Parts: sequence; structure tokens; C-alpha cells
Amino acid sequence: MSERITVSHFMQAKREGRPVTMLTAYDFPMGRLVDAAGIDSILVGDSLGNVVLGYGSTIPVTMDDMVHHVKAVTRGVQRALVVADLPFLSYHLSREESVRNAGRMLQEGGAQAVKLEGGQEVAEAIKAMVTAGIPVVGHLGLTPQSVLTMGGYKVQGKDEAAARKLLDDARAVQEAGAFALVLECVPTPLARLVTEKLDIATIGIGAGPYCDGQVLVTHDLLGLYGGNSPKFVKRYANLNGEIMKALQSYREEVESRSFPGPEHGFSMPEEVIEKLK
Ligand code: KIV
Repeated sequence: MSERITVSHFMQAKREGRPVTMLTAYDFPMGRLVDAAGIDSILVGDSLGNVVLGYGSTIPVTMDDMVHHVKAVTRGVQRALVVADLPFLSYHLSREESVRNAGRMLQEGGAQAVKLEGGQEVAEAIKAMVTAGIPVVGHLGLTPQSVLTMGGYKVQGKDEAAARKLLDDARAVQEAGAFALVLECVPTPLARLVTEKLDIATIGIGAGPYCDGQVLVTHDLLGLYGGNSPKFVKRYANLNGEIMKALQSYREEVESRSFPGPEHGFSMPEEVIEKLK
């Protein structure tokens, strides 16, 4: 097994111009698969809410939901750096509560870092976490926990004021001590500029090819999540279709009594069963 990825890998990769790979996972089998595929970092995203728990947004996801799934993922991961998303309202109420919640992801969940959304307004929370020894990834651009104030899932930073604010926020996140920054749904030239201006690694999702790394929701790239994917997703497989075929074959074989076959059953001495008749 190769060495465990640490936060310094992100900095080193940026310096050497090597792209960082990140994917989401929400449970043990997917954590194990993503890790075995050699992906550098696994994000237990609060996209858990949409992808696994069936909510319409990430807002209903709780700390307990996250810790439960982070634990499952970390049990399957040996090499990748596991980043746990801090859910809605878990890092806004007080510095103490923010650090305690972030700490749970490491202490109970077994993650190596946390991620939170926002810029200057969360800089104090980032500082407090980093001071407590908790590595932090920032998240700017489309921040799904603010979907209600943003008025929907839209590309961010298109006009000068919004682009300038995003750049200032990115600097604030870096200054506060984050070791990486996710940029979601940001125009390619702006993501490129932020990447050039920052010393920490940018990880893009819908932010073009010039970020220091890329992240996708694994269920999207596997075609495992029914419905339409966002424009920035590339589907590398259609597992939804494969799973549907397998499930229908199972139903047909049970209904026609062709499953289970003799090879799927267990034998016993005939005389034993005869005595019971
Ligand atoms: O929750 C999540 O999966 C994320 C990614 C989209 C970056 O935050």
C-alpha cells in the first residue's frame, strides 16, 4: 500500500503542477472503491442529502447524519485523505460550537480534514479550527447551503463585483489557514485567476481545467444517480442502466423459478429429511 495522503500533498502537488484528484463517497463500499482507484482525497460531502438521503437540498443534513456516514467511509479508506463536509448551520453559531463540530468529524468520524462553505464571514471559524489542529478546506462559488439566498443553483462570479468578492473571499480563506479551496460553478477565467493568485490548491467542480485539482460527485460520474446531471459532469459509466437490468433480471428469474438454481442451494443427508416426513 502506498503512503497515506496528507494535507502537505496538496501544497506539494500545486508547486509541482500535479493535479489533485478528489471524489465523493458516503459509505464503506464506495470509500473503499474510490480509495483503491488511487484517488488522492475523498470528500464525504453534504451532497449526501441529495444523493443518498433523498432530500431536495443539503439544508436538512445534520451533524449526526454526517458523522454516521464519515465513519462508514473512513472504515474503508487506507490511503486517501478523507475530508468531511460540515453541514448547514454547524459552523455559524459560535466559535466553540464550530470547533466542537469540526472536531467530531476527526475524533468520531476518523476524517483528516473538514470542509465548509463561505469566505470572509467564516474566516474566524476557519482560524479557530486550524488553531485547534483541524485542517480545513474552503468552498466558494456556488455554495449549496446558501441556495435559498442565492436564488438557485447558478454559476457565480460572472460580473466584476461578484468576481472581485470571490477573489477577496478566496484570499480570506487562505489567510485564515485553509489548505485547499473548492471552487464550484465559477467561470473558467475567474477560477484560473484565483488559482494563480493563491498559494493553496484550488479544487474545481464546474470551474474549468485550470484549477489545481478536480472533484466530482461519484454518483454523477458513474451515472448512478437518476435524472439530469449538471453540465460540468462527465459520465464515465451508466450504472443506473446496469443496475436496472440486473434488478429486472432477478425479478424475472424469481417469477419464472429459474433462480435460485441447484448451484445456489445447500444439501443435507437424504435420510435426515426422510425421517421428518
Ligand atoms: O457536498 C459535496 O459533494 C460538495 C462537492 C460538490 C464539492 O461540496
